Amino acid sequence: MDVKNVTVVGLQWGDEGKGKVVDALGRTCRYVARYCGGANAGHSVDVQGEKFALHLIPCGILHENVVNVVGNGVAFDPAVAWEEIEGLRQRGVKVDSTNLKLSACAHVVMPYHKLQDSLNEQMLGGAKIGTTNRGIGPCYADKACRSTAVRLGDLLRPDEFRTRLRGIVETKNRMLSAMHDATPFDADKMADEYIEFGKRMSSMICDTGSLLRKACANGERILFEGGQGAMLDVDHGTYPFVTSSSVTACGIPSGAGVPPKAVGHVIGVAKSYASRVGQGPFPTEQDNEFGDAIRRRGKEFGTTTGRPRRCGWFDAVALRYAADLCGADEIALTVLMDGEEQIDAFRICTAYEFEGRRIDEYDPSLPLDKVSCVYEDWPAWKAPIGTARKFDDLPPEAQAYITRIEQLLGRPIGVISVGPPREATIMHHCALKDLK
Ligand code: IMP
Repeated sequence: MDVKNVTVVGLQWGDEGKGKVVDALGRTCRYVARYCGGANAGHSVDVQGEKFALHLIPCGILHENVVNVVGNGVAFDPAVAWEEIEGLRQRGVKVDSTNLKLSACAHVVMPYHKLQDSLNEQMLGGAKIGTTNRGIGPCYADKACRSTAVRLGDLLRPDEFRTRLRGIVETKNRMLSAMHDATPFDADKMADEYIEFGKRMSSMICDTGSLLRKACANGERILFEGGQGAMLDVDHGTYPFVTSSSVTACGIPSGAGVPPKAVGHVIGVAKSYASRVGQGPFPTEQDNEFGDAIRRRGKEFGTTTGRPRRCGWFDAVALRYAADLCGADEIALTVLMDGEEQIDAFRICTAYEFEGRRIDEYDPSLPLDKVSCVYEDWPAWKAPIGTARKFDDLPPEAQAYITRIEQLLGRPIGVISVGPPREATIMHHCALKDLK
């Protein structure tokens, strides 16, 4: 199979284990590019027992010879990025302008965005979104507003930037003090700090869209690394309980500055159950001993915020929708569980019921908090599966569960992850398994 580019995208509410899949395939690519989200993401990679949690830097940074790109669609927080770069360097990972390229057009998350984010949430009280408090929503809101936005390339023109920032900070201070009685920000101090970030990163800041389009023209493989998950997409997710960017594969062309056909072979990543952090509808949620057992077994605590994740059964209705939306060619099924005493059966939601009607096809306008789920029960397996390296090594019950998911989603399960380490991976029907 002649595969040019690869896209790895989450099909649930984030935290699907995309980092591991990107890590596994990243070594075969020349570029790994982020196109959405920002430091709200937390991608975990386990390299021979050494754990890395990446928020803004693409997971390809852990491979030599991969050029990592932060695309224009990312909400870029220089403070978080710099800490991450320094942390990686201290652990012996090379990060410089040869292997990290930052889009001059990426929007910058500023200190007032983070304050706005937490104050908005406080003001909403019980109706809050449950954001990661990373300033993501306010940064994208300013992007759409235009006059109050800052882009990464602006930091490289200090005088112009300082003048503009004074105006922006004045607007923000007025709003924040009127609405929240907040202490005003000092524009010049902030300008100094962000001009300094610009200096430190200047050699990495460039026109990443042009770089990626040239890579496409030269046949150099790009892996697009999705953030969050399709059900958190600002257009197609469980709105308004979503993030503020286009996180599905549909967001790649505009978020990376490449033509739509550059998306390539799409791997949709899904856990063998479901989880969600923050508020919002979650039809298969198990707020009970089953949810507790899944959380315990799957170590479901946020990489970015440490929050316990809400857990529930596999939702094939939402998954089919997300896979169709992203054009998933295959599925990577992650965090396959084993040996949980409390669980005798794994349940799969195959349809919803709403006002006495059976709903087989996901409808984003449906009041998802009011649907009930139609389940199939599949016998759980108790034997440990962490050492399985082939599909046949898995207990028959696990094989049956995976095969049923494959049928329900109408596409092959390409990759099965049976544990955090790189090698705890089964290449099942993966079209890329022989990719060099
Ligand atoms: P925000 O992106 O910080 O504005 O958060 C909006 C919603 O998206 C909240 O429910 C967050 O918990 C969720 N969210 C954002 N990023 C991630 C992620 O990387 N994984 C899981 N949930 C996320």
